[in-house]
Amino acid sequence: KIPIWLDCDPGNDDAFAILLALFDPRFDLLGISTVHGNAPLDMTTHNALALLDMLNIKPGTIKVYKGSEKPLINPPKYAAEMHGHTGIGGVIFPEHTKNQVAEDMTYLEALKHAILNYENEICLVCTGTLTNISKLISVYPELKDKIKYVSIMGGGINMGNVTPFAEFNFHTDPHAAQDVVKAFSSKIILTPLNLTHKAVATEEVRNRIYDRKDPKRSSGTRKLFYDILNFFANAYAKKYGITGGPPVHDPLALFSLLPFIDSDPENEYGYKYLRRKLNILTKGEREGESVVANGNYDMSVEEDDGVYIGDSVNVDEFWGSVIQSLEAAEII
Ligand code: BDR
Ligand code: CA
Repeated sequence: KIPIWLDCDPGNDDAFAILLALFDPRFDLLGISTVHGNAPLDMTTHNALALLDMLNIKPGTIKVYKGSEKPLINPPKYAAEMHGHTGIGGVIFPEHTKNQVAEDMTYLEALKHAILNYENEICLVCTGTLTNISKLISVYPELKDKIKYVSIMGGGINMGNVTPFAEFNFHTDPHAAQDVVKAFSSKIILTPLNLTHKAVATEEVRNRIYDRKDPKRSSGTRKLFYDILNFFANAYAKKYGITGGPPVHDPLALFSLLPFIDSDPENEYGYKYLRRKLNILTKGEREGESVVANGNYDMSVEEDDGVYIGDSVNVDEFWGSVIQSLEAAEII
């Protein structure tokens, strides 16, 4: 099992990252930290706790730590249009949760403990802005070398979703994104928009997840994730005119870790990537843009250093892992 720590801002698609982190048997989830992003920190944290409740996670078994409230330098931005004002649209969570924020230590201390306990094995999976991870390496620079991979959903090469140049997670805290990219470089597995837009939740996928007429596919857990997807699908159609289904970005940062850990002789994961030095622009009109060196998006230009930039995965296999995680969640 891959020991992972999930840093997230739930978030409709972060909800799917949480599902995989908890129920895909290939991962061992050590803890969660939350960050500002899709909604204010209090809300993203509440959503993480509420999801653990909905997924029947016994309070205290997976600790949730509250991270940063705002970006390093810029003012916060939220994504109500895409995720609703509460961060997870289409679902109303109860005001009180059984799972509670862990207060035995700060998120930085908790991450430090997890890293020292799983030295050289632990992988960080980041599906929100990178503020928390930037702070981690500035407070404990020595921990950097003890982390195996940092798998990040963020950025886009010649592609943006907030501006024509920039993707939301990088645009919201570009300084943190640049710090993390520079600090981890060749340990980074980046899941940019270029990859996530190739794995959309089509209507067929959504119907595989939930069908109220099929007793095997009509559980409350399935309905919850279906409702989240439908909200997201409508938001994508409204804002971007994308009607074939929404890209469900964040769980792909988990899936993209698998080929790095498992040998994949059958190419089951279908993972393709470019390897490049990467820079995140921190100012001006192109703030948050991910700029790659050498050959831009030319897959035929091979580099043996820099960030792994995911280009595509086996989409069926990916949705299969989401559905298997849903099945595992129903058994608990
Ligand atoms: C990313 O931005 C957020 O709105 C999503 O949760 C995802 O992490 C996509 O650009
Ligand atoms: Ca997110």
